[in-house]
Amino acid sequence: YGDYNQKIDYVFKIVLIGDSAVGKSQLLARFARNEFSVESKATIGVEFQTKTLVIDHKTVKAQIWDTAGQERYRAVTSAYYRGAVGAMLVYDMTKRQSFDHMTRWLEELRGHADKNIVIMLIGNKSDLGSLRAVPTEDAEEFAQRENLFFMETSALEATNVETAFLTILTEIY
Ligand code: GTP
Ligand code: MG
Repeated sequence: YGDYNQKIDYVFKIVLIGDSAVGKSQLLARFARNEFSVESKATIGVEFQTKTLVIDHKTVKAQIWDTAGQERYRAVTSAYYRGAVGAMLVYDMTKRQSFDHMTRWLEELRGHADKNIVIMLIGNKSDLGSLRAVPTEDAEEFAQRENLFFMETSALEATNVETAFLTILTEIY
């Protein structure tokens, strides 16, 4: 069975957002291709990858969009959010600032996306536990207050990456 033969029941667009270098592109590489690169380059503009999976006997094609965290490399914002049914708000748990910026990213997201969008807060780089700058409780509290799902992940060690994407896809579904 080739992928082209597959009947797709749903296509779900998910967007990744967050500061530069938090690991958005590597989370996507891990989920879509089970790859990881230490020498990941900053994203310029917009890229996307797809992954087809079966949820509840239905074939779901996840179309995951990835953009630059750096302002100067970002593409037109409204086009990026258009049609998105899920969003991952990613911070680096070793960089407090990337967590503090979640408020801003959430504001932009809520200003552009559909009001029913499913949002998951992701604290990435859990493999760097000794450098942790954001306590799990702080993130949990923020997620609860803002009505977001929350998970800590490591793209490097492949911890919780699949679970995070599956959770968001299942919630959308
Ligand atoms: P922009 O494209 O600039 O917005 O950055 P990004 O959020 O896409 O970050 P990217 O995925 O390129 O990763 C930035 C750096 O963090 C790279 O050196 C990655 O190898 C590293 N990195 C990503 N995920 C992890 C992780 O889970 N653990 C560790 N230790 N490093 C990671
Ligand atoms: Mg990137």
